Amino acid sequence: MATADSRRFVGKVAVVTGGSRGIGAAVATRLAAEGAAVVIGYRDNQRAADELVSAVVADGGRALALRADVADPDQTGALIDRAVSEFGQLDVLASCAGVEHFDALENIAPADFDRVFTVNTRGQLFAVQHAAAHMRAGSRIVLTSSVSASRAVFHHTLYAASKAAVESMVLNLSAELGRRGITINAIAPGGTATDMAAEHGARYQHPQLRGTMPMEQWLSVHGALGRLARPEEVAAGYAFLASDDAAYMTGRTLPVDGGFF
Ligand SMILES: NC(=O)c1ccc[n+]([C@@H]2O[C@H](COP(=O)([O-])OP(=O)(O)OC[C@H]3O[C@@H](n4cnc5c(N)ncnc54)[C@H](OP(=O)(O)O)[C@@H]3O)[C@@H](O)[C@H]2O)c1
Repeated sequence: MATADSRRFVGKVAVVTGGSRGIGAAVATRLAAEGAAVVIGYRDNQRAADELVSAVVADGGRALALRADVADPDQTGALIDRAVSEFGQLDVLASCAGVEHFDALENIAPADFDRVFTVNTRGQLFAVQHAAAHMRAGSRIVLTSSVSASRAVFHHTLYAASKAAVESMVLNLSAELGRRGITINAIAPGGTATDMAAEHGARYQHPQLRGTMPMEQWLSVHGALGRLARPEEVAAGYAFLASDDAAYMTGRTLPVDGGFF
């Protein structure tokens, strides 16, 4: 895999949803460091997105922060149209926006289902639809699943199912996009040191064990590398799938999870 010293995205334009924080911010930083003009999508944190734009520009790159709630496909479409009008084309979509959810079956309300699937699943599908409308052959789409999609964790049904659907979307969309020379894959991150993990990570433990050991200790039992990922380590996977190094890879979900088991 290329290092951050390589410049695989010179002349390319990338949209990163959920680019204001966490994994998405690391993806935007990595793509910009390798030469891409990046559009950083956010929902609430304009300040974080603006700071990221300033950092990219200070490094000699090109970036723009745009607000769009991916729960509303019209807002996603407007963000992508603006990216194209500002930078002239669209080569990469990195769809990182997502929300967590934990609750027991008896507590799940239809509104919870709608909130989680509207962002994590529907939001990603319509981001692909809008992005693909502008893309040429050689463009790359990278969605975000999770290791949770293929593991049983107490009270995690909604989130895990919303991400499993993404893996199926990637598989099925690869056929129609492949005919146009566009690849689509997903990254399935493991536990990664972000706001989301800080807020929800402890809930991955069995309910009877919750609070009995710190996250790092729990991961030392459940992961080969025994620690959370740094967002930059996960971003390297997105950059690989967004690059021509992954030109013959499509329809797949790549785990970047430190050997989680
Ligand atoms: N961290 C982990 O351990 C982990 C593991 C597996 C998968 N993932 C997945 O990786 C992705 C990034 O996670 P993270 O840990 O970086 O999350 P995070 O720290 O909570 O950041 C979430 C990002 O998504 C944006 N966002 C949330 N809802 C949105 C909406 N409706 N419209 C537009 N943007 C929205 C946020 O924007 P604002 O800043 O404006 O709020 C923020 O940029 C998510 O899809 C998550 O499910 C994370």
